[in-house]
Amino acid sequence: MKQLRPLVAGNWKMNGLQASWDEAERLAGFLSEHASLAADVMLCPPSTLISQFATGLSDSSLLVGGQDCHPEVSGAHTGDIAAEMLADAGATAVIVGHSERRTDHGETSELVRAKAAAAHWAGLMAIICVGETETERKSGETLNIVSTQLAGSLPDGATAANTVIAYEPVWAIGTGLTPTPDDVAEIHAHIRSELNGKLGEEGAQMRILYGGSVKPGNAAELMGVANVNGALVGGASLKADDFWGIASVYLPG
Ligand code: 13P
Repeated sequence: MKQLRPLVAGNWKMNGLQASWDEAERLAGFLSEHASLAADVMLCPPSTLISQFATGLSDSSLLVGGQDCHPEVSGAHTGDIAAEMLADAGATAVIVGHSERRTDHGETSELVRAKAAAAHWAGLMAIICVGETETERKSGETLNIVSTQLAGSLPDGATAANTVIAYEPVWAIGTGLTPTPDDVAEIHAHIRSELNGKLGEEGAQMRILYGGSVKPGNAAELMGVANVNGALVGGASLKADDFWGIASVYLPG
């Protein structure tokens, strides 16, 4: 099977001010010193910083993404951001369906699917998040939950180029807890088989990221698991040194 080019994406969530540009610049510096890195690297700062980062990174391989978009193209939706606005600001991707949005804003998979479709319409790659809660895990529902979220959230027209799946167990986010490599292998294999079944070759080529307490100290082990094609990183993406400590597992040799 063709080797998929991994993606290491940093989700800054509601963190970052203009001064945080220093971290982005430092990360871009690591990337330019290590052009052989066999992975794409992306920062998803808050939307207030996208334009600043995208402009500053125009000569860098470091990509910029958004954290959410509205399903509609434009209109009377105070405080929301359309996918086209993210693209206009310089983003090339957007995270949709993060568990914090599913929880904080009651987002359903149906809405997530509409957001992913809006992202595609605007020319953005959609990073679609799925993952079970601790209660669901304890009751043995992980694979069912992931299947249901995936089936509900994947829009028509999803391809390996315009869509990435991020498996983020809710109980592992920001807790320092991670599933065992065997658990990650089982769940990612399950997602791969669902994608193959739904999308054929596009599903076989679609990247599946792992997210939830990825740190420099556990990145090599987690990224080494079959069907793990990169990481979606929260807290450890805020500092360039930590984030590079994760991304650099993809340095050759
Ligand atoms: P942490 O890496 O802080 O656990 O967050 C993961 C996450 O939610 C990325 O989207």
